Amino acid sequence: MVLLAFGTLGDQAHDERDPRAAVRVAQTNYTGAVSAGLVCASALQAQGHGSLVVLSSVAGERARRANFIYGSSKAGLDAFAQGLGDALYGTGVHVMVVRPGFVRTRMTAGLPGGPLATTPEAVAAAVELGLRRRAETVWVPGTLRMVMSALRHLPRGVFRRLPV
Ligand SMILES: NC(=O)c1ccc[n+]([C@@H]2O[C@H](COP(=O)([O-])OP(=O)(O)OC[C@H]3O[C@@H](n4cnc5c(N)ncnc54)[C@H](OP(=O)(O)O)[C@@H]3O)[C@@H](O)[C@H]2O)c1
Repeated sequence: MVLLAFGTLGDQAHDERDPRAAVRVAQTNYTGAVSAGLVCASALQAQGHGSLVVLSSVAGERARRANFIYGSSKAGLDAFAQGLGDALYGTGVHVMVVRPGFVRTRMTAGLPGGPLATTPEAVAAAVELGLRRRAETVWVPGTLRMVMSALRHLPRGVFRRLPV
C-alpha cells in the first residue's frame, strides 16, 4: 500500500502576490503527485496487487476565494487520481481518493477549525476502513460528502458570499 500524503497549503494572500510561490504549491500538490503517483502505480501494477491512497481535500471540490490556489491544485490531484483509478481498474491495483475537511495538523496549526474539524487519527481510521471496503472515495468526516454535495451546486453568487 502506498499512501501519498505530501502537500503544502501555501499562504494564499502572499502567494497571490508572488506567482513563483503559487507555482510551488501547484508543483508540490499536483505535479509532484502526478509524478509520484505514476511511479507508484507502475510498481503496484508490476506486482499485480495493492492500493494507492491519495490524500486529496474538500478544498478541491469547489474553489473558494480564501484558498483557491491550494484548492485548484487539489482539484487537479483529485481528478488525476480518479482517472488513474479508472485506468487501473481490473488490474488488481486499487486507487482510493481521500477527501478530508479541516484536520488539526502542522499544516493547519493556528487556523480556526470550525465544527467539522477532525484529527489525523480519524483520517487514519477512515483510510483503514476504506481500504478494507476497497472504497474509491472516502470523506472525513463522512458528513462532508452531503455538505459538499450541496455546496457544489450553489450558484456562484451565493457561494461567493458564504463565510467558508
Ligand atoms: N490538514 C488538513 O486540514 C488537510 C485537509 C485535507 C487534506 N490534507 C492533505 O493531507 C496531506 C497531509 O497533510 P498534513 O495536514 O499532514 O500536513 P503536514 O503535517 O504539513 O504534512 C505535509 C507533508 O508533506 C511534506 N511535503 C510538503 N512539501 C513537500 C515537498 N515539496 N516535497 C516533499 N514533501 C513535501 C512534508 O514534508 P516535511 O515534513 O519534510 O516538511 C510533510 O511530511 C496533504 O496532502 C494535505 O494537503 C490536509
